Amino acid sequence: MTVRGRFISIEGGEGVGKSTQIAALAAYIVQKGFEVVLTREPGGTEGAETIRQLVLGGSAERWLPRAEALLFAAARSDHVERLIEPALATGKWVISDRYIDSSRAYQGAGSGLSDADIMTLHQIGSRGMLPDRTLVLRLDTKEAANRAATRDQNQADRIQGRPENFHSDVDMAFVSFAEREPRVRLVDASGTVDTVTMRLLAEISDLLEPA
Ligand code: TYD
Repeated sequence: MTVRGRFISIEGGEGVGKSTQIAALAAYIVQKGFEVVLTREPGGTEGAETIRQLVLGGSAERWLPRAEALLFAAARSDHVERLIEPALATGKWVISDRYIDSSRAYQGAGSGLSDADIMTLHQIGSRGMLPDRTLVLRLDTKEAANRAATRDQNQADRIQGRPENFHSDVDMAFVSFAEREPRVRLVDASGTVDTVTMRLLAEISDLLEPA
């Protein structure tokens, strides 16, 4: 019988070095003998990538918070059913750049929808499927904004361009998830790339032990 793979989501505000760390984490897990599928949200499947264009492109006023939350939930549903679940079922590990906690933080805490409503959408769309571990990379919000601005050359998308208090509400939401849910771990994203990778690996070491 195939042992189900593990599902890890990586979260954190813009500019915290997620992409670099995801690549480092994947390389380590592969070296341990597992197959790893890297994916992202919104996106990961053809349908979800189409929704990504809709939800991240266009003017700031394009979507009101409820429609936006439904679009993210729809993208996630396609992603879970067509990519994440089949990969896990065949023993692969899945690392997703963002997942449900982004909806809870951005559409919930940031835009004022309740966590219960976001989780109801997640139940309908994706049977409430949660990661085995969620790693939240955190940096001082100003430092993160500077890094993101340099990277994006100030071409912020619909959500990145929101005011600083929106992004600090998002950050506080991730902190509160970590306080209440053992699956969610905060990881300090300051320091060298290797230092941060070591901190991340420490938070998933138990998942790599044989069952
Ligand atoms: P993206 O360009 O992928 O980059 P990054 O993760 O580096 O910020 O941006 C995705 C954006 O979508 C980001 O601003 C967070 C937002 N988002 C939500 O608001 N809700 C969600 O459920 C997800 C998955 C993302």
